[in-house]
Amino acid sequence: MVNSILVTGSSGLIGSEVVCFFAAAGWHVHGIDNNMRADFFGRPGDTRWNQMRLLREWTNFTHHELDVRDRGSIDQLINQVRPSAIVHCAAQPSHDLAASRPFDDFDVNATGTLNLLEAARRHCPESPFVYLSTNKVYGDAPNEIELVELESRWEYADPNFTNGIPEDFRIDHSKHSLFGASKVAADIMVQEYGRYFGMPTCCLRGGCLTGPNHSGVELHGFLSFLVQCNIEERIYRVFGYKGKQVRDNIHSLDVAKFIHCFIAAPRSAEVYNIGGGRSNSISILEAFKVVTDISGKPMRYEYVDAPRNGDHICYISDLTKIRTHYPNWGITQNLRSTLMEIYEAWGRRA
Ligand SMILES: NC(=O)c1ccc[n+]([C@@H]2O[C@H](COP(=O)([O-])OP(=O)(O)OC[C@H]3O[C@@H](n4cnc5c(N)ncnc54)[C@H](O)[C@@H]3O)[C@@H](O)[C@H]2O)c1
Repeated sequence: MVNSILVTGSSGLIGSEVVCFFAAAGWHVHGIDNNMRADFFGRPGDTRWNQMRLLREWTNFTHHELDVRDRGSIDQLINQVRPSAIVHCAAQPSHDLAASRPFDDFDVNATGTLNLLEAARRHCPESPFVYLSTNKVYGDAPNEIELVELESRWEYADPNFTNGIPEDFRIDHSKHSLFGASKVAADIMVQEYGRYFGMPTCCLRGGCLTGPNHSGVELHGFLSFLVQCNIEERIYRVFGYKGKQVRDNIHSLDVAKFIHCFIAAPRSAEVYNIGGGRSNSISILEAFKVVTDISGKPMRYEYVDAPRNGDHICYISDLTKIRTHYPNWGITQNLRSTLMEIYEAWGRRA
């Protein structure tokens, strides 16, 4: 029997990578996406081009134009398909946008996740359920770690965090943004369906997830948007922290590879931090240098002397737990080649 997988947010960065990965492995892939990214971010956020690409490339891919908020339709589809695995990537993904659309943010991120979990419990409770959570569940608590200012980046001064932020870092008593709070609600609910009902669930708390198929915009998709600004010689706005804020970046392919590992050997109620780790960490100023080097164009930017509300100063995912549980998984895509791919992809899409 051919395995089937249900991927929500299938036209987005992570969803589309997961679709390709499993379609290439011969699975029947069902995608759910209603292009709500265009509603959130306007035309530059539109993901229809990616949906069309998937439909062109894979005959074993079926697109379902559904909204994860639509409880009845989600239940009906999961009952009909009874997928062997579910990967939930649909989201309102922006930290900053959430404040202007609190109901949409919570309805999509928290209630949408509950709709999927409950339908999965009713119709396919044995199927691994992977949820794309976020490092914003830790709120701005990582900013309490003592830092040292280096020439081009902030760095942890506390040796306890040399490897980055581990999964047992506290998630409350900090500022999350409404986005971080709606993701915490979903993250805890996914864990609970594991602990309470014994389902094989997993939360992936992403650092910066990136890759060539992101419809990057100023409010979401840091590297994709930065590369696009460079190519089009537009001004990139740097918000606070002297441009030395650090993110660890992971290519969407390495995320899809991990999801495959988890589905092959699922555990219950697990939480993993997933990001590029120290070797794929970069500050905004450092990213400007690499992109300029790739494109040959100078980076045009302006500095806004106020950080984004609740933004991390230095965030690196500690990958110790995920690597210990899944020793066959690791980072395969380095940052320079990822940036090169993003650069080439914007060229093709133009
Ligand atoms: N990209 C990152 O840097 C990053 C970092 C941490 C966590 N994450 C998480 O990973 C997941 C995937 O992120 P991404 O970068 O691929 O996002 P994305 O915006 O590229 O993709 C999400 C997709 O979901 C769709 N969608 C939104 N609302 C929907 C709804 N109500 N019903 C159906 N479809 C809907 C959108 O149209 C979009 O195509 C999200 O949960 C996000 O919070 C992303």
